Amino acid sequence: MTMERRDFLALAVKTGGALTGGVIVAPALVTALAPTWQHRGRGTWVRVGPLEDFHPGAVAQAIVEVPRDDWAAALRRRGVFVWRPSAEEVVVYSRSCTDLGCPVTWDAGSGWFFCPCHGAIFDREGVPQKGPPRIPLHRYATRIVEGVLEIDLDSIPPHA
Ligand code: FES
Repeated sequence: MTMERRDFLALAVKTGGALTGGVIVAPALVTALAPTWQHRGRGTWVRVGPLEDFHPGAVAQAIVEVPRDDWAAALRRRGVFVWRPSAEEVVVYSRSCTDLGCPVTWDAGSGWFFCPCHGAIFDREGVPQKGPPRIPLHRYATRIVEGVLEIDLDSIPPHA
């Protein structure tokens, strides 16, 4: 049985379309499912500090220790921001800008997070107000253990 030229071209176009679609869709699926995969494990919970050290209504910077003995000491220290909207709530943000990952700073006077790299501004809730980022600052999963605030390092994307 021989394949007509027209059939061959149709098959080639369909195969090329399927491959192109796979190349486009596969990374999107991986990105969409990544948070689900990350939460399958028990998480990597680390201490932020006593909850009473973070005052309701305020945003404060804190340093957490990443439990990686094979990393240099300076690399194991990770900055985060802790915001307590009220006495009952606590939010811990990654310091990494959601554009390209530069470290954001908090300005208590304006109530904004600023990114020095491309001028992004995020409000107190981490929502982008200006600049390239389209998604809010990443929020870690939190828990309180005997009065101590902890975060799960695995609860945000690895690069954040
Ligand atoms: S890395 Fe923050 S605006 Fe580009």
